[in-house]
Amino acid sequence: MKKTIVTGGAGFIGSHTWVELLAAGCTPIIVDDLRNSEERVLLGLEKITGRKPVIHRIDCTDARAMNLVFVQEKPDSVIHFAADKAVGESVRDPLKYYHNNIGSLVTLLRVMADHKVKDLVFSSSCTVYGEGDKLPVTEDSPTGAAASPYGYTKVVCEQMLRDASIADPALRVVMLRYFNPIGAHPSAHIGELPIGVPNNLVPFITQAAAGLRDKLTVFGNDYPTRDGSCIRDYIHVVDLAKAHVLALQWIAKQKAPLCEVFNLGTGQGNTVLEAVHTFEEVNGVKVPFVIGPRRAGDVVAMYADTAKSLNVLGWRTELTLGDALRDAWRWQLALG
Ligand code: UFG
Repeated sequence: MKKTIVTGGAGFIGSHTWVELLAAGCTPIIVDDLRNSEERVLLGLEKITGRKPVIHRIDCTDARAMNLVFVQEKPDSVIHFAADKAVGESVRDPLKYYHNNIGSLVTLLRVMADHKVKDLVFSSSCTVYGEGDKLPVTEDSPTGAAASPYGYTKVVCEQMLRDASIADPALRVVMLRYFNPIGAHPSAHIGELPIGVPNNLVPFITQAAAGLRDKLTVFGNDYPTRDGSCIRDYIHVVDLAKAHVLALQWIAKQKAPLCEVFNLGTGQGNTVLEAVHTFEEVNGVKVPFVIGPRRAGDVVAMYADTAKSLNVLGWRTELTLGDALRDAWRWQLALG
């Protein structure tokens, strides 16, 4: 049975991936200090699978603690989710982001090298494309013009992985560029747990619909799009999670050296207003909203070319925007 370390395994995408890894016959081991998560995620994982997650509660920048995890667990591979991800916070506190996001990857690569663990899947983001040169963006589109310190940490981490795999020809790396992950597990036992006021659209929609927020502000309706609001590629977190399993299986079949990048999106762009109206339709609830000014740093439109993920990994999305917004609402209701 293949054992995989899942850093950030108690987080939004990490927890859903833990479920899919288990379903695929892997043994996923969580490394997460729960700084951006809660115990309830671990209980949720147990409810879904009937298995108590194994978790090491440590900071991934702590080399000694990471080494001990590898000594104890003897993993075959790693999926590295652990990172700070709030764009606005990264502008206010860039050093936190450079320290945690880059420091944890440096530490991880060193510990992997010490323990001769060669297979790594890394969480990257479509933010590395910046504005995007043409839509949909392919993996060959230029990168490096990120709009925030958070985005630059992903650019730097990708470059670090390319350099590391040149230096160590045995390393086999897949970098997955996520578009906009939304939704929750259909069981409503796990989902996104935003801290404080949500920055991202869908948690804000669900909280506004639940009456926890006064109203949603749609950031701009004067963009050059079909209804004036920004376009994004919203992907169900369960579809996203499944891609990680395929990526690990694909890596295992390849010859080293390997450092490949894949887009993970639906390939379809939806506007903010379409997301709001779809939410209202599938759930039969109203979302109170107003139109506000544009948000600094937002790109007009971003969606993925998914041909490479389909052709190479054999991955395609199975769930719709409506499915994701239904599951996000079920999760909001479960949160109470
Ligand atoms: N939006 C609103 N109102 C809100 C929140 C968001 O109108 O209250 C709009 C945004 O302006 C944007 C869209 O909803 O047009 C999506 O915004 P999100 O904050 O949910 O997502 P982003 O596309 O800004 O961010 C995503 C990832 C980041 C990543 C970024 C790169 O969540 O991790 O893409 O572009 F850095």
